Amino acid sequence: MVSKSDLILVAGITGGVGQLVAAKLLAKNLNVRGLTRNKAQAESMFDRQVELLEGDLREPNTLVSATKGVDYIICCTGTTAFPSARWDFINFVQPSNDPQAVDSEGVKNLVANAPHDLKRFVFVSSCGVLRKEQFPFKLLNLFGVLDAKLEAEKAIIASGFPYTIIRPGRLIDGPYTSYDLNTLIRAKTDGKKAVVLENGDRLNGETSRVDVANVCVESLFYELAVNRDFAIINSGERPQNTNWEQLFSHL
Ligand SMILES: NC(=O)c1ccc[n+]([C@@H]2O[C@H](COP(=O)([O-])OP(=O)(O)OC[C@H]3O[C@@H](n4cnc5c(N)ncnc54)[C@H](OP(=O)(O)O)[C@@H]3O)[C@@H](O)[C@H]2O)c1
Repeated sequence: MVSKSDLILVAGITGGVGQLVAAKLLAKNLNVRGLTRNKAQAESMFDRQVELLEGDLREPNTLVSATKGVDYIICCTGTTAFPSARWDFINFVQPSNDPQAVDSEGVKNLVANAPHDLKRFVFVSSCGVLRKEQFPFKLLNLFGVLDAKLEAEKAIIASGFPYTIIRPGRLIDGPYTSYDLNTLIRAKTDGKKAVVLENGDRLNGETSRVDVANVCVESLFYELAVNRDFAIINSGERPQNTNWEQLFSHL
């Protein structure tokens, strides 16, 4: 499993989950490289503790350096499910960073650029990808975000790389856009609810960004999490320590 000599690429490192993933990897003394579209902005977040490379998932040639020599990829990129400024409209009408571009084609570009000896591709997908006809997922998928996530999942599995596919419910806690790294490392779930994992896509509920980051990082330490796709929500009373081995062993 992951060791101190491994290099882990976090795609989407400036995002709510991505920042927490980076903080948790650093807390475990692991080597982190971040993929960002805006290096200057990301530098102000990570204070030189992370190697940052600029790249855009939509432009495969910008991913070559970022993926070179990495052992693991944790992909927590994403755009909004519904039209917003983050879709980067061209001339106010043509979206250029919508779910199809980022969550489907973009992730496929990342997979295509991954080194042939990649040890694991960890992907933050979404609850509902296998239940798109059911409420509330039908609504969530109006602009195709779940279609796009599912296409990416399929590409990751088809690549033959060892994978871990994580399907969170509605994200809560954060994003931690104005916190420093030490604050992020200490970040806890406000709700103090337990982590629930279940194979496939049957859970409904909310998921703390902190626990999405936790499961991304912890999965690297367990063979039990390899080639698994599962949902994660928070529910019930939180034990003092989350037993990840037990959680993964039920998958
Ligand atoms: N919100 C929910 O309720 C929900 C539910 C289930 C799953 N999810 C998924 O959970 C994941 C994490 O969510 P979050 O709230 O942490 O996301 P977030 O804060 O919106 O962060 C998204 C990240 O993606 C990056 N990104 C966007 N377009 C990109 C592109 N073209 N090339 C490279 N990077 C790009 C952004 O970087 P920039 O700084 O360059 O913009 C940012 O770092 C996402 O995959 C999301 O789809 C969300």
